[in-house]
Amino acid sequence: MACLTGIEPVALNSGGLRSIQLSYKHARQPICSKNNFLSNNKTAINCHLTNKILYAIISHTSANRKDMKLGKLYGVGIGSGNPEYLTLRACKILKEADTVFTVISQNASDSVSKSVVEYVKPQGKIELLIFSMAKNKTDRENQVAANANKILEELEQGKNVAFATLGDAMTYSTFGYVYKIIKEKHPDISIEIIPGINSFTTLSAISQKVLAENRQTLHVVPSFKEEDIEKIEFPENSTTILLKTYRTRETLLKRLQKEKEKHPGLEIIYGEHLGLESERLAFSLEEIKTIPETYLSMIMVKK
Ligand SMILES: C[S@@+](CC[C@H](N)C(=O)[O-])C[C@H]1O[C@@H](n2cnc3c(N)ncnc32)[C@H](O)[C@@H]1O
Repeated sequence: MACLTGIEPVALNSGGLRSIQLSYKHARQPICSKNNFLSNNKTAINCHLTNKILYAIISHTSANRKDMKLGKLYGVGIGSGNPEYLTLRACKILKEADTVFTVISQNASDSVSKSVVEYVKPQGKIELLIFSMAKNKTDRENQVAANANKILEELEQGKNVAFATLGDAMTYSTFGYVYKIIKEKHPDISIEIIPGINSFTTLSAISQKVLAENRQTLHVVPSFKEEDIEKIEFPENSTTILLKTYRTRETLLKRLQKEKEKHPGLEIIYGEHLGLESERLAFSLEEIKTIPETYLSMIMVKK
């Protein structure tokens, strides 16, 4: 017996009249407008069909699947970890989406972004994605592509999908990569991006250090190779944000020590787990050196 995606004939009589049970799991609309064939999402119906009608329903349904409206994709910046840093728009989208994808690190049993998402009690399901932090670029790219495919599968079923990401969705976020892949596959897809409070505005607020003002320039260094440490510049009248310093911190601290010797007025502000209960700040190189490295940490340098 043939079995189409979304239609599962579970019983068939001999003769011209067929008794069939239709289970159309992914339909958002009835598959047929005649009363006796009406079927809602996840509803199975029993009906008697001639070959002609069965063919008509199958054609109608296949056509619907091809033309099926894609769901909408939301890139949601959820702030730096404290659920109270969620915007009202982010709360609404996370609550109402059919599926909320968020990120868990490879070795973590818990996810900071998942706990922020759970705070709003989403009506849909929450799916966790692992994004590789491998040094090998191909491994990282393969994982991004696999995750983008998981999201695409949901969108192609007409589901509205939120991708929840820490901080801001368009600032050094995995969402940026996923966005490009999905947009390439479906250029007309409807996408909305909700900005989030990012990690460095959070550090500035919590440490009560102005991020930048007047003619000061603001620089963000996302990560760096140890051999490039001397290439990082700290211009006069600037603030430099250093993200993802956990793997290269020792090298960075040595570089900052030298910079401080040349410019004693240099301010160095360290922040980790900002917005979480385990939040910690440090304002001197001596103290920062004593703190174990952790992924959710950053350094702000003011000169
Ligand atoms: C992939 S970037 C994400 C940036 C994020 N999209 C944003 O807008 O801030 C990850 C880095 O952001 C910083 N970060 C993010 N959230 C943080 C937090 N709650 N506390 C301290 N640093 C954080 C850390 O430097 C971490 O390694």
